[in-house]
Amino acid sequence: MLETPLVIVNFKAYAEATGKKAVELSRILSSVAEREGVCVAVAPQAPDLRSVVEVGLPVLAQHVDPLTPGAHTGWILPEAVKEAGAAGSLINHSERPLRAEEIEACVRRLRELGLVSVVCAADPGLCRKVASFRPDFVAVEPPELIGTGRAVSKVRPEVVSEAVKLVKEVDPGVRVLCGAGISTGEDVRTALKLGAEGVLLASSVVKAKDWRAAAEDVVRGARRD
Ligand code: G3P
Repeated sequence: MLETPLVIVNFKAYAEATGKKAVELSRILSSVAEREGVCVAVAPQAPDLRSVVEVGLPVLAQHVDPLTPGAHTGWILPEAVKEAGAAGSLINHSERPLRAEEIEACVRRLRELGLVSVVCAADPGLCRKVASFRPDFVAVEPPELIGTGRAVSKVRPEVVSEAVKLVKEVDPGVRVLCGAGISTGEDVRTALKLGAEGVLLASSVVKAKDWRAAAEDVVRGARRD
């Protein structure tokens, strides 16, 4: 369901991509993805999962907790994410960090349920560590570049290539994404040239005045031609 090169748009808790607007933005991303022949997934907030799933593009949760069903209040159960129709979940985003043992448990729970795991990590060394948990994807995201519009692929290319190298040494089957500041098609093309198999981005699309134009630019950067 999640093919590479992959573009994941994280809606975070941005007002611009909450509730009905999450659905509206997903419709635009879905039509751009189809037209450009690129796999685009979205990560809306948990209460929006079900309505965004209806749009028809792959949907990821932003976070799950490493729990089994039971008496837990205020947590996100992987089974609930699955039943909402999501394909999987981001884990350990720098804005929603987890301890190493929690990350490992989340990856295991997602795998048990046939859900995709996308584990974020702040630097190549942490990417190597989380790759040993055998997630489907690792996404390297230097926190200091998040939301700055300064693309990791342009200003810290060595972070991307090093993350790819270290993750593939652990397990060539774990796919590597990069994120932070990715804003243009050129940023995406550069990321793919460095060995990333896709990108994770947020503000350049979610906060754009023209969602379609911003989405077309980044998504075209992931086209194979
Ligand atoms: O999850 C993606 C994110 O952290 C990157 O954010 O706004 O720099 O694209 P942004």
